[in-house]
Amino acid sequence: MNRVRKPYIAGNWKMNLDRSRALDLIKTIKGRLGDGNDREVAVFTPAVYLADVSAVAQGSPLGVGGQNLHWEQQGAFTGELSGKMLREVGADRVLIGHSERRHLFHEPDDWMGRKVRTALDCDLLPVLCIGETLDERSHNRTDRILKKQLESGLSAVQATETRRLTIAYEPVWAIGTGEVATPEQIAAAHALIRKWVGTKLGGDAAVTIRILYGGSVTPDNVKGIMASPDVDGVLVGGASLKPDTFLPIIEFETRA
Ligand code: PGA
Repeated sequence: MNRVRKPYIAGNWKMNLDRSRALDLIKTIKGRLGDGNDREVAVFTPAVYLADVSAVAQGSPLGVGGQNLHWEQQGAFTGELSGKMLREVGADRVLIGHSERRHLFHEPDDWMGRKVRTALDCDLLPVLCIGETLDERSHNRTDRILKKQLESGLSAVQATETRRLTIAYEPVWAIGTGEVATPEQIAAAHALIRKWVGTKLGGDAAVTIRILYGGSVTPDNVKGIMASPDVDGVLVGGASLKPDTFLPIIEFETRA
């Protein structure tokens, strides 16, 4: 497949693994990666392992990121981390607005634009996650929800910054459930996102921005998902925790 954009395969470890398993996993991934010219691979680790994981990844094209950040540089925000802190321990990217942050921890839409802006200002590559719940989909509100999340998440982004920004479409009902979205649902959501970016930020931005799919991605379904025209990569939760399942996803072209 002739791709305009470099495929981006990302693992979201969430609150999983322990230090030694995290280090074993990153060493194995690093050992199997090529020069990084044909794909971008990154892992989003628990913040306490960032320094160790990024030390192992150093010298390789592997990206290492945090799972969240606060938009302020410092202050009385117990439990939070600033972009500068993430950079200091070796992160080069960060997830923003993951559905678990939005739904389990009630982070509102209007925080996301500030977080994306802060990430860009701190020289971190943001991955803005958006997606509808099952209830929203069943009430035909998917398009409206995605547009609302795009509107707030990209409220302070310039067209020229879309090379450094990634969007992950992750239907909430597909995350960790084993129920992957259909090719039609994925194609429709990704086309809507690219069109929205084109309308708001211009044609070049729509061509350069990468849009990942996330939600129950496995070695068995990755090739089909990656074949969809507007899918530039995948954000993988459960299957990113073991080499047996993550490596075949990284090497998705070789799947039957
Ligand atoms: P999953 O998680 O692959 O376990 O469904 C995806 C995500 O939350 O990013």
